[in-house]
Amino acid sequence: MTTRVALVGAGAMGTIMARDIYPQLGGEVEVVAVVDRDPIRAHSLAAPLGARPYASLADALAHEELDAVDIRIPHAGHADAAVEALDQGLHVLVEKPLALTLADCHRVERAAAAAGRMAAVAENYPHLRAVRAARAAIEAGTVGEVLALRTTRAYTLDGVWAESAWRQGDQPMAGLLWDQATHHISLLRALAGPITAVAAHRTTRRTTPGAEAYALDLTFDSGLVAQSLYCWGTPSRAVEVEATVLGSQGMIDVAVDYEAHGGGARLVRGADVTAISEVECYYDSHALIVRDWAAAIRGGGSPLVTPTSATADVAVVIAAQTSLAAGGAPVQVQTAGAAVSP
Ligand SMILES: NC(=O)c1ccc[n+]([C@@H]2O[C@H](COP(=O)([O-])OP(=O)(O)OC[C@H]3O[C@@H](n4cnc5c(N)ncnc54)[C@H](O)[C@@H]3O)[C@@H](O)[C@H]2O)c1
Repeated sequence: MTTRVALVGAGAMGTIMARDIYPQLGGEVEVVAVVDRDPIRAHSLAAPLGARPYASLADALAHEELDAVDIRIPHAGHADAAVEALDQGLHVLVEKPLALTLADCHRVERAAAAAGRMAAVAENYPHLRAVRAARAAIEAGTVGEVLALRTTRAYTLDGVWAESAWRQGDQPMAGLLWDQATHHISLLRALAGPITAVAAHRTTRRTTPGAEAYALDLTFDSGLVAQSLYCWGTPSRAVEVEATVLGSQGMIDVAVDYEAHGGGARLVRGADVTAISEVECYYDSHALIVRDWAAAIRGGGSPLVTPTSATADVAVVIAAQTSLAAGGAPVQVQTAGAAVSP
């Protein structure tokens, strides 16, 4: 049976979903409505899909038989939109970061539990073939004992991503940490488990317009440590080794390619480099995310990235911001929450 979806948000990410992802998903899911406050944007994405444009989710609900909502609006609107849809009995897929506060994350968790509907978060990294292969290799003992991890996300914010005024500037949701850190936190958690503490530092003196740089020192529940580096303002590599697992018998590199199928995981021992995953493009993961969500809706299982998992990513970013405000002091990640009781 086809899942009838309203795509909420017809900006940069909504365009990728409508133009590149949903058309390749065949009969599994069908976008029947496109919602955006900007009617021109809603119309321009709806028309090629044969869907109808709406200015609000309430308007779409009033006119369409919907099963589910795919939310691709700026971070600050995620929790309200997700809760609105869940309260109306719809399944929800919502972009990362799930929300900007733990209270809002828990609000989404509670709404999903109360509605008995499938809520998933469009967090890409646990879906990447490279990350899954790296995790399997770690579990198989391929690199011996894991000793430490590092990640790097470095590029210049340009093109459509630089056009959204909310992404940079003074709004609480602006900036590199809210835009990218939940991605790498989810990557690191997928490889090494829960993170318990973070000390965060930022580059303070810079003249390059739009530049931001942060370094996070992370401690895992297992006792492992990781360093996670984020930079806006440097030209990106075609294929970046975004994560490296340092083990007693070798390393695993997780390479990510946003333009072509050059990403993948590699086992590195001295000069020996062996591919351990299929090659992929980062954007392949968006189709995997929707398929995973649609399968959970049909089959009743759990999607790979639940609101509870995404809440754990948000908790680390909030701890990092607390650490920045405290001059880089280590901060414990808040894990206990009021997810299912008010
Ligand atoms: N997972 C990924 O790889 C990835 C990549 C890019 C962006 N994102 C996420 O996607 C989200 C959207 O980013 P973007 O770059 O597309 O933003 P954008 O500014 O390009 O587009 C957002 C759109 O949402 C509309 N909008 C805002 N609030 C709305 C509301 N309440 N109801 C209806 N429409 C509303 C705006 O009019 C705009 O058209 C962000 O949260 C971002 O983190 C994820």
